[in-house]
Amino acid sequence: MDETIPNERRDFLYFATSGAGAIAVSAAVWPLINQMNPSADVLALSTIRVDISTLKVGSQLTVKWRGKPVFIRFRTPEEIETAKADNLENLPDQIARNPNVKDDALATDDNRAVAGQEQFLVMIGVCTHLGCVPIGDGAGDFGGWFCPCHGSHYDTAGRIRKGPAPENLHIPEMLLSDDLVLTIG
Ligand code: FES
Repeated sequence: MDETIPNERRDFLYFATSGAGAIAVSAAVWPLINQMNPSADVLALSTIRVDISTLKVGSQLTVKWRGKPVFIRFRTPEEIETAKADNLENLPDQIARNPNVKDDALATDDNRAVAGQEQFLVMIGVCTHLGCVPIGDGAGDFGGWFCPCHGSHYDTAGRIRKGPAPENLHIPEMLLSDDLVLTIG
């Protein structure tokens, strides 16, 4: 009996074997991946909707999203004007930190405020130094937010201006509808 296997036949055996191996591995890995999927209640919390139609000029609403506070501020015309007038060169962090605009977008007020509704500013309320929750309502030397933990001052666009915090307050992914329902996440 000829025990040699023609080349084509050997190739077939090789691929058939590796294919079976791949299937076995997939079958073993799938239950693990499936267990890692977030449950329905966690998924529901990953996106929240907030009606901000009754928010008043000069006030701030704080909501909880993914375990963190999110500041929603209805800025006054003066706050917007101040934020727009600030020279980018004076900003320690020149990046917008806004996932709703381009990654490398500069920290202008336009790139920080809600698109098309510049009176609204929506930010994760966690100081970028060591994670304290800053105080709002015009606090600090720049009329925005102040973190008392180690003295970080943020301006009226939530940009770091003074103190140890390295970055502007981060902005979450969001969408604001025409009837002022904000979807975060
Ligand atoms: S945690 Fe805000 S200044 Fe340190």
